[in-house]
Order: sequence, then structure tokens, then C-alpha cells
Amino acid sequence: MIVSLFLTLVASATAAIASPLARARLHRRTAIGDCPGYTASNVVKTDSTLTADLTLADTACNVYGEDIDDLKLLVEYQTDHRLHIKIYDAALNVYQVPDSFMPRPASQNASSSAAAIQFNLVEDPFSFTITRTNTNETLFDTSGVNSTLIFESQYVRLRTQLPPSPNLYGLGEHSDSFRLEATNYQRTLWNSESPYIPRHANLYGSHPMYFDHRGSAGTHGVFLLNSDGMDININNSPSEGQYLEYNTNGGIIDLYIMAGPKASDVSKQYAEVVGLPAMMPYWVFGFHQCKYGYFDVLDVAEVVGNYSIAGIPLETMWTDIDYMNLRQDFTTDPARFPLHKMRELVSTLHGRDQHYIVIVDPGIHATPNYTPYSDGVSQDVFLKNSTGEYLGVDWPGVVVYPDWFASNTQQWWTNQFAKFFSPESGIDIDAVWVDMNEASNFCPYGCDPNGTASSGNDPPKPTSTPRNNTGRVIPGFPPDFQPPTSSKVRRGSPGSMTGLSGRDLLNPPYAIHNHRGRLSDYTIYTNIINSNGIAQYDTHNFYGTMNAFASREAMLGRRPGRRPMVLTRSTFAGAGTKVAHWFGDNDSNWDDYRISIAQMLAFTSMFQMPMVGSDVCGFNGATDDKLCSRWATLGAFYPFYRNHADISAPPQEFYRWPLVTAAAKHAIDTRYKLLDYIYTALYRQTQDGTPLIKPLFFKYPTDPNTFGIDLQYFYGDSLLISPVTDANSTAVSFYLPDDIFYDYWTFEEVRGNGSMVTLTNVDYTTIPVYMKGGSIIPIRANSANTTTALRQQNFNVIIAPGLDGVATGSLYLDDGDSIVQPGITDINFHWNGKSLTSNGTYGYQGGSKREAGVVVESVIILGQENSINGTARFNKSTGAITVTGPWGLTGPFEVTPGQ
Ligand SMILES: *[C@@H]1O[C@H](CO)[C@@H](O)[C@H](O)[C@H]1NC(C)=O
Ligand SMILES: *[C@@H]1O[C@H](CO)[C@@H](O)[C@H](O)[C@H]1NC(C)=O
Ligand SMILES: *[C@@H]1O[C@H](CO)[C@@H](O)[C@H](O)[C@H]1NC(C)=O
Ligand SMILES: *[C@@H]1O[C@H](CO)[C@@H](O)[C@H](O)[C@H]1NC(C)=O
Ligand SMILES: *[C@@H]1O[C@H](CO)[C@@H](O)[C@H](O)[C@H]1NC(C)=O
Ligand SMILES: *[C@@H]1O[C@H](CO)[C@@H](O)[C@H](O)[C@H]1NC(C)=O
Ligand SMILES: *[C@@H]1O[C@H](CO)[C@@H](O)[C@H](O)[C@H]1NC(C)=O
Ligand SMILES: *[C@@H]1O[C@H](CO)[C@@H](O)[C@H](O)[C@H]1NC(C)=O
Repeated sequence: MIVSLFLTLVASATAAIASPLARARLHRRTAIGDCPGYTASNVVKTDSTLTADLTLADTACNVYGEDIDDLKLLVEYQTDHRLHIKIYDAALNVYQVPDSFMPRPASQNASSSAAAIQFNLVEDPFSFTITRTNTNETLFDTSGVNSTLIFESQYVRLRTQLPPSPNLYGLGEHSDSFRLEATNYQRTLWNSESPYIPRHANLYGSHPMYFDHRGSAGTHGVFLLNSDGMDININNSPSEGQYLEYNTNGGIIDLYIMAGPKASDVSKQYAEVVGLPAMMPYWVFGFHQCKYGYFDVLDVAEVVGNYSIAGIPLETMWTDIDYMNLRQDFTTDPARFPLHKMRELVSTLHGRDQHYIVIVDPGIHATPNYTPYSDGVSQDVFLKNSTGEYLGVDWPGVVVYPDWFASNTQQWWTNQFAKFFSPESGIDIDAVWVDMNEASNFCPYGCDPNGTASSGNDPPKPTSTPRNNTGRVIPGFPPDFQPPTSSKVRRGSPGSMTGLSGRDLLNPPYAIHNHRGRLSDYTIYTNIINSNGIAQYDTHNFYGTMNAFASREAMLGRRPGRRPMVLTRSTFAGAGTKVAHWFGDNDSNWDDYRISIAQMLAFTSMFQMPMVGSDVCGFNGATDDKLCSRWATLGAFYPFYRNHADISAPPQEFYRWPLVTAAAKHAIDTRYKLLDYIYTALYRQTQDGTPLIKPLFFKYPTDPNTFGIDLQYFYGDSLLISPVTDANSTAVSFYLPDDIFYDYWTFEEVRGNGSMVTLTNVDYTTIPVYMKGGSIIPIRANSANTTTALRQQNFNVIIAPGLDGVATGSLYLDDGDSIVQPGITDINFHWNGKSLTSNGTYGYQGGSKREAGVVVESVIILGQENSINGTARFNKSTGAITVTGPWGLTGPFEVTPGQ
């Protein structure tokens, strides 16, 4: 079967004599500066499109592969605010990201004359600029020095000039500053397992999307839809100016330029390209606890019990690979995590309105008498190399990897979930966590999987009582072997956009700067061909996203109609449409605490992946009570809030230290009261892409002081979070824009004047939070120990008038769980300086009688100068007026203090 498939591919590729490579002149490789560029001809314009032929202008340079002679240019004014620019090979052999994985937005055929941005072509030598229509500001410009377009079989280069000192953001996943360095900066995109989230390195995901913010001249976004490995260089020199340059290992130039002009417009416009994010279950905003190394089911139960004893609300308990038998997916360790006990654990949790989540890895143990493996073999779902089964090494030892493109894979995966996670006879999980899906392979390129799996390096030796399935080492493996001579796999048919034949799929001439080594080190070999004929070389960067998407389908199979939550380590552009992400294996140190904010800002506001967060208190290494207190508090203002630690790290559940217990109680209490506010913000993002977390420059786009801020942010639309960020410090200096704010804790008015403010004595159990003037924030009057109980609490509505005296806000309510809601409530609040009015949609009936009876208990108006008569109470020292209700949430109401 495998052999015949291979022969077919060879035959079709050999027949492809029209392929550009078959005709490529085999000139010796020359310097990159000798590349001839292209000439445009046959330019055809319509009101909403432009097409042209691009022909190699002179002798090929063949720097990193072979130049492709004939290209096509397609420019579409897809909407008034979005341009699509595509440069691809005329023969359609070059790999393009399959539409089945990334459905493209349809062009709405906007009129170029009405569009916010313009495409301007220079025919010879070919280059183009993109300008903002109403200002003529140049946003993208490929005409600079050393900017010649290079389009080769294994290398594509595109460079744009930028203004000096640009404000660029995005290009994840990384752990660098939020505003990207503009000198000598390289952003490699190649998904890789990256313990300790190293700086200036490619991490777990690829999001080739950047925001370019130019102050009062507006913000625009650029998305390169290309999944090949790449280096993006941002640099400047006197002769070359400031530039950003893409260097990919292949694929085409598939650019989407989003005009903004506001930063949040760019977020929304990007969502129109990659899709709106998935709505999450309400309970996922609760607090989660996990650790690798919980020894057995009793250990897990004890942690749950300890949280209750400590009075710290725990919503969801997690289990890492410890539960598995010999670390095999879809098994339980019969001694330590016996199935009947696991079922008891889950039913106990469910009985207390708590939730349970376990990990599942894509690597399937290649071993006889293991059903997930034998089922998969018989259903032909695993990746193969040219001689048969392809093996790697992961937690269970030697593994095979699912081929997510194969026709039976989804059904096989869904069946494994249905059986193992059966509510009737298995582990009735509430959500799933997919890890190691870059995909990770403990065996670097050239090593012997069987040898590595049994080398003793992995699994690591147990530290105490013998246990066969514990111990997460940071992969550190035998020295690399020499790579074999590259296999020139011939495959693909002309016009199928599945990849050029004749490429070196293991060691491309242009080596991206993958911090793990060669492309195939510690992952699935890049010369492995998926069942659809496309090489891992091209699809590697979304292997994990396909794994996560398949897991979502499998979860939907178990609980049709209910919102699935899948937490994935590896991501690609568009992953947020279906799944959630945590930032991987960080370290318990202050720098990783700080960098989590920049990571969160990029994913929520720029990559349309709102349900994200870092491992609270740090994954690797030992945390301490001060760091963990601060992190427990900061984490309460992440969208996804989970404490997680490595097996080698000392336990770090919040109840382990009095200080952290106090901090966590306060943080969770605060988070839960605000839970409907952030749930509303998530809902908004799922409806139109408005980010639920915002960098400061989104709100103050003309204030240059905000452009580089990455230690403060807006949680939802209205809450400015300014955590203490120095180690063991109780002081923080932070920026307050020229605006009116109110201290969330005291209700006091604080007039920001566009300068730094220093607070001292910021206790370890708290965090500076300010309400932005102009906001109305609904909060639950009381917190609860589960989100189920929280939903039965009444609300208070806090009005924080802006400088103009008015304020707005909203509240979204639904059943928190169904994909199709039987009825929703979506209330707008408006304060005109005298009265609060509320109106909207009132379709949600409440899941229980208690919940249906939830009311607004009081309305609190901040920043007032005088007492008002009637039912109002005035607090002289803070200027807050409290008006007591109640007012129902089943219809409009109006509150005018003093009447
Ligand atoms: C932009 O350039 C065009 C063509 O050169 C010119 O007609 C127009 O007035 C310019 N607009 C602005 C705002 O400078
Ligand atoms: C163009 O790039 C080459 C190679 O990186 C470099 O040596 C040269 O100085 C650059 N040209 C200019 C004008 O900067
Ligand atoms: C939450 O509190 C209620 C009432 O005090 C109690 O019955 C319940 O067991 C608690 N649940 C959890 C998960 O601690
Ligand atoms: C295919 O993979 C198997 C298992 O890793 C290996 O033994 C075999 O040599 C590989 N074949 C090729 C052509 O690389
Ligand atoms: C490695 O193990 C697999 C599965 O156990 C076996 O089929 C294969 O022959 C082994 N390969 C080598 C090179 O030992
Ligand atoms: C661990 O594995 C070894 C060898 O496979 C076996 O002899 C031993 O009983 C196992 N220990 C436990 C606790 O399962
Ligand atoms: C911070 O305090 C902890 C104890 O709470 C201590 O272990 C740690 O070394 C201190 N860190 C720094 C950077 O001072
Ligand atoms: C809701 O109230 C706002 C502000 O008072 C008003 O502008 C809007 O028209 C009202 N909407 C509906 C549907 O009544």
C-alpha cells in the first residue's frame, strides 16, 4: 500500500515536465545580491482586482534552491479595508496552505476607488507599495535597497521598508518584548517544544501576523498566510533604511493587509481573515489546578480536598500524564489510577460542581496489544515514511504520529475519545488538554527511536517509590548523528499546490534559525509525506493545530451541542477559532511572570486567541511565596487561570503558603465577581473580534508613552491592570494616561495626567486596578466557591463616569454551555450624568429558579460631588453614591438617584 502510493507519486512527478524545476537552469549558486528580480507584464485591472504575470528578469541566482521563472500576481480589494496580495507560481505546483485547513475569506469585490488602502504597482523592476488612501502614507514598500523579490523552490524573500523606529507587534509565538525590537531582530517561526520559553527563539506556535502602529497616522496589520518555516528579520542600516523581511523555506506570498485605522479595527479585520474565536464554557473562567507528578488518584483527590479546606475555590482539577498506564494515551495506570477510582473521582468532582481535565498527547505508543495503536494501523491513520511506519519517541517510548490529513484519522480519534472518555464506562472529562503536539519527538534527527526510547534517558528514573509512568525530563539526548544524504522525494502533481518536487525536505539550503537545530530535530521528520501528498516540511507548523481541532471534534462527539474546551500547546494562525492555549513550560522566575503579560497581549489582541494564560507560579523550578502570591493575583486577570508545575518542581498549590493562600483567596474572589464582565468581553470578541484584553495603545493611540507598555493592560474594556513586577517588591511605578480613573478597591477618583505614578506598600495580596472613566461595570455582589454557585449571585452595577460625565457598559448572560443558545440576555447600560438606563435583549431564562431570580442589588456612581436625596447613600471621602434596588434583569430599567 505504502510502496504503491509512493510509486504513483514518483510517476506523476516525473510526468510533470512542465514543472518550473524541470526546466530550471542549473546555474551555480550566486550571491543573494545577484538575484535578478522580476518584471511585470500583462497587467489587467478591474475596479476591484489587478493581475499580472511576473517573469524572472535575468539569469537565475539559485541562491537557496532554484528560481522560479514564471509567477502570477493577484491583487484583490477584498473589502474596503482589506487588500489581498498573492504572488504564486504560474504552474501552481508550489505548496499553498490547504483551504481545508484554512478556509480563505471570500472577496467582497470592493471598489479600489473607495478602499481605505491602495495597491501601487511598479512593473520593471517589479515592486509594489501600499498606501493609505486618505493620507498617502506608505504602509508597505518593496522597492528599497536589497529588496528584490526572490522566489525560489526553497526560499522566498520579501522585504518592506518601514519608517524609522517603527512600533511593530505580533509575529508570535515568542517571549520577547511586546513591541518588537527594530534593530537586529529575528523572529523564527517553526513550532517546537521549547522548555523555559527561551527569549529570541521560535516557540510552540506560528502567527505570521504583525501590527504596525503609527500614532495619529493609524494602525494597520499584515498577515502572511504561509506555514513553511521562516525567519522574519527586522533591522535597519544607513544604506538600507528600516525594514522587515520575510525569509521562508517555501510556500507562496499570500498577504493580507488590514487598513485599521484603529488598532482594534485591525483585530476585527484579522478575525475576518482567520475567523472569529470560539466561545468558551462559563466554567472555564474558574480557577484550575494541575501538576505533573501527582502520584496517584488519592494524591489528586487530596489536592482537591486541601483546596476546600483552605477555602480557596477550585473549579477544575487536572491530571498530567501520571494517570496513564506506561504513559499510553487512553489508558489508566491500574495500580495508581485505577479506572473505578478515577470514575469516583470524577463523579465526586461533578457532584460538587467541579470539573476535571486530563492530558492527551498525539504520539501513540507503537506496541502490540494496544488498541489505539492497532486500531490506527488497521485504519491507516499514522504518518509513514517511504518504507513504512514512521517512528519517533515520546513519553510512552517509541511512538507513531497520527496523520491528521488521512481520511480515517478523525473517526479513529473520535472513537478513542468516545470509548475512553465515556460518561458511562470511562473518564467523563469536561475538557481536554493536548500537549507535545508541535509535534515533539525526543529523538533528534538521525537517532534510532528504539535506542533512544530504551536508552534510560527517558523515561527518567523515578525519584522515590518505583513508578513507571512519571518524570518529565527536559529532553537532553545523545549527541546528534550525521544526517543521511537527503532523500529527494518526488511527489505531487502539477497544479495541485501540494509542493514542488525535487526539494531537499530535510536540509533546505536556507537554514532558518530554529533554536532546536535542524528542521527535523526533536520533531516529526520534515520529509514525511502526509496522506494528501503534502510534506511535513510545509505543514509542520499546523500539525498541533490539526491535532487540537480533531480533539475538539472528538469532544463534540461525546457531548454534542456543548461548547468544547481544548487547551493546546501548539498553535497556528486561526487556532483561536476552535481552541485555547497556554504559553507552555515557563520557569518560576520573575522574568517569566513579567513576560506572560506581553504573551497574553499578543494572543488576545492580535492573534484572535483570547482564551490564554501562563502557568501561574511558573512550571519549571521552585517558586516561592512572594512570586507565587503575585502570580496568583496577576493570573486572576488572565483569561485562562491555571496553576501548573513540573514533576521536578516542589508542590505549589496555593494553599502551601499562608501568604499565597491569602493572595489567592482575594484574587479569586475578585476574579469571580468580575467573571460576567470578562465573559461578556469574550462574547464580544467571538462576535466581532474586539479583543477582550487590550494593550494601552489601543485606547490611547496618539500617546507615544503607551506604545511600548507591556507590563500594564486593560482587562476587558475598562479595567487597567498595573501589577507589581519587580522581584520581592511592594512598589510599582506605572503609567496613567491623561484620563480619569477610579481605584477599583477604594472607589477613589484618580486623575491621570500622562505620567508615571508610583505606589508603595502594595501588599502581596493585592494588585493596582483602575476603572477607566466612561465605563459601567457589572459585578457580582458576592463571590462563590464554584462558578455554578456564582451564577446565582446578584449584581452590583458600578458607574465610572468619564471626563464628559457619561459612561457605558454591557452585560451578556447565557447558559454558559450550549453552542446554540436557547435565549441570550444582552444588556446595554448608559449613564448620561443623571440617570442610568438599561435596555437590550432579554432572552436568557436562567438555568435554575435561583439564577432566574438574580437582580441588580445596587448601583454605585463614582466621582460625584454631592449627596443626592432619596434612597441614595453618599460616601464623602470617595465621592461614591450607592443607590439600592433591586432591579430585575428581565427587562429595561432606569435609575435616577434622588428620585
Ligand atoms: C495623495 O496623492 C494623490 C496622487 O499623487 C494626490 O492627488 C492627493 O492629493 C494626495 N492626498 C493627500 C492627502 O496628500
Ligand atoms: C545589500 O545586502 C548585502 C548582503 O547582505 C550587503 O552586503 C550590502 O551591503 C547591502 N547593500 C546595501 C546598499 O546596504
Ligand atoms: C461550596 O460551599 C458549599 C456551601 O458552603 C459547600 O456545600 C460545598 O461543598 C462547597 N463546594 C466546594 C467545591 O468546596
Ligand atoms: C522509516 O522509519 C523507520 C522507523 O523509524 C526506519 O526504521 C526506516 O529506516 C525509515 N525509512 C526511511 C527510508 O527512512
Ligand atoms: C523498532 O521498534 C519497532 C516497533 O517495536 C520495530 O518494528 C522495529 O523493527 C524496530 N527497529 C529497529 C531499527 O530496531
Ligand atoms: C515497573 O515496570 C517494571 C518493568 O517493566 C515492572 O517490573 C514493575 O512491576 C513496574 N512497577 C510498577 C509499580 O508498576
Ligand atoms: C524573594 O523572597 C523569597 C522568599 O520569599 C526568597 O526565597 C527569594 O530569594 C527572594 N528573591 C529575590 C530576588 O530577592
Ligand atoms: C437603549 O438605550 C440607549 C441609550 O439610552 C438608546 O440610545 C438606544 O436607542 C436604546 N435601545 C433600545 C433598543 O431601546
